[in-house]
Amino acid sequence: MGALDGRIAIITGAGRGIGREHALLFASEGAKLVINDLGGAVDGSGDDRSAAQQVADEVVALGGEAIANTDDIASWDGGKRLIDQAVEHFGDLHVLVNNAGILRDRVLINMSEEDWDSVIHVHLKGHFVPTRHAAAYWREQTKAGKDVKASVINTSSTSGLIGNPGQSNYGAAKSGIASFSVIIAEELKRYGVRVNAIAPAARTRMTESTPGLADIVAVPQDASVFDAWDPANVSPLVAYLATETCPATGRVFFVQGGTVRNFENWAMTDKIEKNDRWTVAELKAEMAKLNA
Ligand SMILES: NC(=O)c1ccc[n+]([C@@H]2O[C@H](COP(=O)([O-])OP(=O)(O)OC[C@H]3O[C@@H](n4cnc5c(N)ncnc54)[C@H](O)[C@@H]3O)[C@@H](O)[C@H]2O)c1
Repeated sequence: MGALDGRIAIITGAGRGIGREHALLFASEGAKLVINDLGGAVDGSGDDRSAAQQVADEVVALGGEAIANTDDIASWDGGKRLIDQAVEHFGDLHVLVNNAGILRDRVLINMSEEDWDSVIHVHLKGHFVPTRHAAAYWREQTKAGKDVKASVINTSSTSGLIGNPGQSNYGAAKSGIASFSVIIAEELKRYGVRVNAIAPAARTRMTESTPGLADIVAVPQDASVFDAWDPANVSPLVAYLATETCPATGRVFFVQGGTVRNFENWAMTDKIEKNDRWTVAELKAEMAKLNA
């Protein structure tokens, strides 16, 4: 018995890195998979459409069921084809893991319009488009009287939720993805859809190419030491969130190595208050109470 027996899942950006690990674990837990990947470089340039097929072949060789999809997840029609492909091939859809992403790190002063647009496009629109089409499918199923038990797992990042200099485009997209998840979790409840997000940390070409990180994420030389940066460490949480009986929704979790942590939404904390409009001079005196 696998934790995902009978679940039909789409994983975007599953041709390598963290997404590939999700695919291998999902398959070993019994899920039937659509492996999506455009196969581009880490900055989103080019494409190698064999990446998705390679992972699908790997899954099949291990005894699982998987087909490949090479659509660009940020394209409206491509996202629709991806959802349709799962339903047409496997007869249903239960899980959508939005994982695909790219990096164009620059400090703001050096960031071009294209660096900004491409990162926002692939991450933010690349989460919206497949989710929008999957939600339409699940709404239809609910209206037809089916008891939908679906799960969407999105991929945020501490780069956005905490903030990392040099990644204002990526961080803005990633905190946008966390907000998107919290909002649509409320909207999609009525259709039996749960939505959560993870903020992972793992060794992939993304972290290996980040200055200062390559040494930190390296495989431990001592084989008896737990490899906390192994991207496979991220996948069990995603698989748990994908299970039919998981109750979690509207939540964001950090996950790295053997650690899973709660992220809280932006929260209002200390306050200063009066029953009238503040003057600038008054605020100059009072704002120190808010450490500002
Ligand atoms: N590695 C980390 O520590 C880390 C930390 C925080 C967040 N993340 C996020 O995790 C996710 C996976 O990243 P990774 O580290 O495995 O990187 P990766 O580069 O190994 O994998 C990302 C995959 O997405 C695919 N992709 C990119 N644009 C696409 C598009 N438009 N359509 C379809 N596929 C596309 C790429 O071809 C690639 O295979 C990303 O969303 C990333 O931002 C990673």
